[in-house]
Amino acid sequence: MTKERVLIVSTHPLFRDGIIRLLGDQADVVGAVTNWQEAQELPAGRRPQVIIVDHDSPELKEADLAPLLWPDASDLRVIYVTLAGDKMVVHERHQVAGAGEADLLRALKGERQETLPYGQSSQPPQDSQGRVTRMEQPSQRRNYTRHFIIVTVLVVITTAISLFILSRIPWLLPPATTQAGPVDALLSLHVVAIAFLFALVMVFMLYSLVVFRRKGDEDGDGDHFEGNTKLEITWTIIPLITVLIFSYLGAVGLRQVTAAQPNEMVVEATAFSFGWQFSYPELGLQNSPKLNLPVDRPIHLKMQSRDTDVIHNFWVPEFRVKQDLVPGVPAELRITPNRIGNYLVRCNELCGTGHTYMLAEVNVLDQAGFDAWVEEQKAVLSPEQMAQRGEDLVNASGCIACHNITGDPGGIGPTWKGMFNHQVQLADGSTVVADEEYLKNSIIDPNGQIVAGYNPGLMPANYADLFSEEQLQYMIEYFKILE
Ligand code: CUA
Repeated sequence: MTKERVLIVSTHPLFRDGIIRLLGDQADVVGAVTNWQEAQELPAGRRPQVIIVDHDSPELKEADLAPLLWPDASDLRVIYVTLAGDKMVVHERHQVAGAGEADLLRALKGERQETLPYGQSSQPPQDSQGRVTRMEQPSQRRNYTRHFIIVTVLVVITTAISLFILSRIPWLLPPATTQAGPVDALLSLHVVAIAFLFALVMVFMLYSLVVFRRKGDEDGDGDHFEGNTKLEITWTIIPLITVLIFSYLGAVGLRQVTAAQPNEMVVEATAFSFGWQFSYPELGLQNSPKLNLPVDRPIHLKMQSRDTDVIHNFWVPEFRVKQDLVPGVPAELRITPNRIGNYLVRCNELCGTGHTYMLAEVNVLDQAGFDAWVEEQKAVLSPEQMAQRGEDLVNASGCIACHNITGDPGGIGPTWKGMFNHQVQLADGSTVVADEEYLKNSIIDPNGQIVAGYNPGLMPANYADLFSEEQLQYMIEYFKILE
């Protein structure tokens, strides 16, 4: 039997020498070169039938070889080989085609099925156990089909379990406006999509980890894949359509929750560091620290921020809708409360020291209850009622972020306990009696008289704009009862 002409290509001299030694006299080595350029310079009569390429020389790309060498070659085979110590792994066109020296020698002895034009293959390459290693082949595709069926079933089951678990978790407080309907519907749809995507990713990943893990003494490379156009089109088109559908549903939902309603009542909301005030221009009510609303009446909330440097956010979780309040930018929300109950406005932008305290009571009342509250707001108050309003005001205005009524030391601002009509030591060394005038000045001009041990510039200086004279009086009445 005639020996095959073999060309060895590698940038590593050890590889070239190693292969020559392994081949011994079983092959006719026509050359051992370092790159394709040198290979091209071989004499015409010494054209190789087999090219052994160093699989670990990444610069030796098969694609570069094709236009360079013998374009009319019809019986040329390129074998990619890895040398690791005394171990040799044979690759064919980047496919694992054998697992050792014997395979290479068998190939060199002409034990291949037929001679093929360069770059083609009439049948799938096989590994040393005769298993097909190319996934494009029908026999292999059947094999993968089985995996895909199992994975599909697992994805469906995992989606169902995820949905079941997610549906048992009370994510949301019960809705309390008509606007909550479209929001919750869209969210439920998102949860379905999320459960499916979670299942898709986790099942494929865990299945691959378990089923295709390295077994026993396997040490070959995995299958080589050259892309899959169908798959890439599929995973582009399906998410694109999904996103478009969600965009459309989102736009429709947004239009529903922002649409003007008949018979709306305007309520003006003002945010400040750190509290809320609500005015009812149609009812002549100003600066209420509580947001009281009649049930089933559409409300048009017109909102603004009194601050110049931070963003607040109007958010009542049960109402579902929320709105940022950027200084200088008027904002609005439309809500139709449909469930009687007590809720809280929670500022939903981190806005400073008192952010946590930036809450406002929300009471959705029946019409009679709401009317009674409006009347009560307009009535002449006793000192006790004024003190109660003052307490509501300081609680709703973030004051308690810095001041306490317990007398505990260490607050950002002085305690209010026992303050009224007592001597106060000021930072400039003087003392003053905490009478009504001092208290009022301390609210509207907080840096005027700093109490010893406290820092100027911390308390907002815009309370004269926020609170009416009456409201300042309510607060003073409240301080009076804090013995
Ligand atoms: Cu205002 Cu957080």
